[in-house]
Amino acid sequence: MPTDFEATSMRDCLCATLNASMVGTRVSVCGWVAKRREHGEHLAFLDLRDRSGILQAVIEGSLDVRPEYVVRVTGTVSLRPEGTRNERLATGDIELSECEVEILASAEAPPFQLDDRVDIDEQVRLRYRFLDFRRDRMQVNLRLRAKVNSSLRRSMEAQGFCEVETPLLWAPTPEGSREFVVPSRLHPGEYYVLPQSPQIAKQLLMVGGFDRYFQIARCMRDEDLRADRQFEFTQLDLEASFVTQDDILAFVSLAVLDAAEAATGVRPSTIPSMTWAHALDRYGTDKPDLRFDMQLHDLSAAFATTQVKAFSAPCVKALRVPGGASYPRSRLDQLTEQAKELGAKGLAWFKVTSDSLESPLARFLSEEESNAIRGVDGAQVGDLLLCVADEYAPACKVLGALRVAIGSPPVSEGPHQYVWVTEFPMFEGVDEDGNLVAAHHPFTMPHVEDLDLIASDPLKVRSQAYDLVLNGWELGSGSVRIHRADIQSRIFSALGVSDEEAQNRFGFLLSAFKYGAPPHAGFAFGIDRLVAIFAGEENIREVIAYPKTQSGTDLMTGAPKDITERQKRELHMKITSKG
Ligand code: AMO
Repeated sequence: MPTDFEATSMRDCLCATLNASMVGTRVSVCGWVAKRREHGEHLAFLDLRDRSGILQAVIEGSLDVRPEYVVRVTGTVSLRPEGTRNERLATGDIELSECEVEILASAEAPPFQLDDRVDIDEQVRLRYRFLDFRRDRMQVNLRLRAKVNSSLRRSMEAQGFCEVETPLLWAPTPEGSREFVVPSRLHPGEYYVLPQSPQIAKQLLMVGGFDRYFQIARCMRDEDLRADRQFEFTQLDLEASFVTQDDILAFVSLAVLDAAEAATGVRPSTIPSMTWAHALDRYGTDKPDLRFDMQLHDLSAAFATTQVKAFSAPCVKALRVPGGASYPRSRLDQLTEQAKELGAKGLAWFKVTSDSLESPLARFLSEEESNAIRGVDGAQVGDLLLCVADEYAPACKVLGALRVAIGSPPVSEGPHQYVWVTEFPMFEGVDEDGNLVAAHHPFTMPHVEDLDLIASDPLKVRSQAYDLVLNGWELGSGSVRIHRADIQSRIFSALGVSDEEAQNRFGFLLSAFKYGAPPHAGFAFGIDRLVAIFAGEENIREVIAYPKTQSGTDLMTGAPKDITERQKRELHMKITSKG
């Protein structure tokens, strides 16, 4: 009898742990009937499925079992007759013979085929998620997720971090997304807020002397859903005291590399870093996908005195598309359209031919301009050059988006290319009231060298905020926090947050800081995103057990749903309109 820690009072082992070395052993296994094949009137083959895989059982005599019945089969491990072995199955050499079958539960025919080779509509999969779990894809993805979580937890503990659980019923946090609000039975007209992240809670832990905190934290944000966004998601959240940015980058890098090794079996080399300004300049984004090269080039100097109207702008940027000269006109029109949708006035394209540039604009260029374009990134015959002329940031961003549209491989392809992006700007612009808008959150420490710019040239202020990017996805962000009251009030006033509002929103944090706040910094990354990339999935729904659809509903439970009149009364709620 095989011994197995999976053995229970009902089974000896998992189906796919049996092999030819156990021939002759009598075992009991439990699972679902994946398939039934008749062989004459009194012989049937059952494919029995449990989470380890498939095992064939040979059933003699008549037996009423159908697909998805739950059964316990006791049988003798036997070699399959020559010519009937199945190389695609781990247990393809063997079968269970002389079987006794106990039906543990009957089952209706499932609403879709539980076969991984069949493409099933996602709405149906989500409605019957419990059946979807029986398919390989969900088994593999959720187990991969568990492995990543477990590895992250071990890595953080090994680095001396203490896991602390923070509340889900909380007060507003400063992350800036719309929040989910929970009414209170005991406090009519007052509300809890589900945390967008444990941001304030973890900073208070620093004041309290937990100098290395982490949590695998559930976060809730009422924002528009996308492939990489859900209402509920999970972060590896951490914060540490008496540290600088470099310490946080080292903690997180170690945890992520440990998780990557656990998930993929390969440990990536150290994670490189680049500044935000460099990322924008060369990749046109703060989340560069480094799986492919294609960098942006600045041609502003060559076009500084241009006579060509399309190029007379403060900045001219170019992108070389290797081999792109073969693009048909329709593809070029489509890229031009895309550039316009992204806010560009137009897109100039040039095909590099053996003796010239081919483009509707080519004949208007001076020789110097033409040479500058031909010289981009070592352009060769057969390449395409795309140019955008505009203000600096929009020119970079438009070409950055085209770079991704043209060059970015699917999530499932290519190596895993991590990169730290540092020195984000402190402010990302100005709102309609003329107040600056924080790029990260208002507790982010400005770069010490830029403190004097807060009043004079705030959009030039760099912050001590950093992101971790993987294959063009933002995995996580963090920052060194302000722990000095004087700097905090300068930032609040730049953001147009009055003393009263600051007290009202974050009073408990600000007052806690009066009792001795250590210098501290932290980070959080999205575990859903990390696991999706490890799993090669384009949408984080595929690595979440019970995700919401694009429109925010749970097709299985029907949530969000109405509640009873009594619940509404208890919660002091009255619905005045439905939309
Ligand atoms: P931030 O808001 O950048 O930072 O979030 C950190 C990471 O969380 C993930 N994430 C999401 N994943 C799925 N669905 C969502 N709706 C969603 N929103 C965010 C992303 C993101 O990079 N408290 C700060 C961190 C800190 O400063 O310590 C924070 O939450 O992967």
